[in-house]
Amino acid sequence: MGKILISFFSATGNTKKVADKIASVVDGDVFEIEPAVKYNKEDLDWTNKSSRSTVEMQDKSFRPEIVSKVSNLSSYSTIVIGYPIWWYTAPSIINSFIEQNDLSDKNVYLFTTSWGTSPATSFKEMKEKYPDLNFVDAKRFVGAEDESEYKEWLSSEIQEVEKKEKLKLVEEWDKKFDKNEEVISRKVTFMNHFGVTLVADIYEPRFYSGKLPAIAVCGPYGAVKEQVSGLYAQEIARRGFLTLAFDPSFTGESGGSPRSITSYDFNVEDFQSAIDYIVSLGNVDVLKIGIIGICGWGGIALQVASIDTRVKATIVASMYDISRVVSNGYNDVSDDESERYKQRQILSEQRNEDFKNGTLKLSGGVLNQLTEDDQQYVKEYYEYYKSPRGYHPRSVNSNGGWVIQTNTSLMNTRLLQYSNEIRSAVMIFHGENAHSCYMGKDAYNNMVKDSKYYDNKELNIIPNATHCDMYDNMEKIPFDEMEKFFKKYL
Ligand SMILES: Cc1cc2nc3c(=O)[nH]c(=O)nc-3n(C[C@H](O)[C@H](O)[C@H](O)COP(=O)(O)O)c2cc1C
Repeated sequence: MGKILISFFSATGNTKKVADKIASVVDGDVFEIEPAVKYNKEDLDWTNKSSRSTVEMQDKSFRPEIVSKVSNLSSYSTIVIGYPIWWYTAPSIINSFIEQNDLSDKNVYLFTTSWGTSPATSFKEMKEKYPDLNFVDAKRFVGAEDESEYKEWLSSEIQEVEKKEKLKLVEEWDKKFDKNEEVISRKVTFMNHFGVTLVADIYEPRFYSGKLPAIAVCGPYGAVKEQVSGLYAQEIARRGFLTLAFDPSFTGESGGSPRSITSYDFNVEDFQSAIDYIVSLGNVDVLKIGIIGICGWGGIALQVASIDTRVKATIVASMYDISRVVSNGYNDVSDDESERYKQRQILSEQRNEDFKNGTLKLSGGVLNQLTEDDQQYVKEYYEYYKSPRGYHPRSVNSNGGWVIQTNTSLMNTRLLQYSNEIRSAVMIFHGENAHSCYMGKDAYNNMVKDSKYYDNKELNIIPNATHCDMYDNMEKIPFDEMEKFFKKYL
């Protein structure tokens, strides 16, 4: 992943020379677009009206056969295509190449060699002929350029590769759900406004036309995109959307130091920067943007919906109002000044400890072992995060848990302050047996209470379902209703 492929067609060697130079400068791989029948001197005689090249170039639908396909195409994020100019444009074997290889998720650069014709005409033709592809730039080279010129041309792609290598992104499919062949996915990176590089997986239907509505997905709190958010993203993409599941700041494959901390303002920013990214994609309809937040990210998603007017539809699943749980305890049993004072004392003393030790102590996360007396939701979390069903080596909840101090940012914060001012559509769904169901019901009531914007809000209680059923139970997660909701409001 993240590598650059320099592909080229060359009949007499000029383009090959440039391709080899570019590949060595940018450390890319090389693929020769080799015709099944090579062009000889007579074939290339442009002064002869009946020579092979002249005849082929006159027939716009002709596609010369290519000897082989690119292997491991999915490992490249950038494809450079080099070719000689023939009759002011690209030889038709370049069309064969583009049509035989799915380049829809690539940045495509064109370079040409010629006696003098610029690549402008063929660049324009390619963009018109393949509107779903992302043609970034086209440039003519002669082969005698300084190395810095090639580097400069592909500098943003080189930086992207370096960034991915620095973040040590995993290439294989290490997700807790099977790959669906109706969907294609790729890893991408982007930076939030706090300077943290986020890593995300984009999912798209394998076949579609036109621009796609797009949805950013995150959650649960302390999970990675290889767990629940990715599962949702893939399934929703299969139904005709571009989706993006991201790892929040300080977690998973995303950057940020120290690790395993959250902060609601960072997390709202994470969601908004994910939206920035999908809005920038050429195949996305910028007026059709949705978000999905699961568990603790449900509350964050509602916060985003109340702030970001680009969001036209929001779905939250098994939601937590994480600020309420941190300051009031479950079911608000500790909603009391003296209880909160105790928590504040614990956090304050922990700060001294952490400073003395030069580390940030972790909370321990989901229990490693259950006792019979453990509450139902503790058992559910254990069964998901600590068993092969959902365990992931990068997940905060599957491992050491959050930094204890991380609760500081949530203790004196109220996330859903302006939820009754959300104008866009919202659906909240919750399992009826979920320990967290009261938070979904209250969030819905707060959203519609004294609100002018109540008629596009839905509360959907799923019978006979628990909190963690909404993580990965494909029978119970209401994907059909989610699809209907997004199709109605996006
Ligand atoms: C059939 C044919 C048509 C050509 N048409 C043009 C043209 O329209 N404009 C131009 O500047 N060069 C044209 N050329 C020259 C080639 O683009 C140039 O020699 C190129 O560098 C050859 O690359 P290669 O050695 O990789 O095949 C043409 C060459 C051939 C064989």
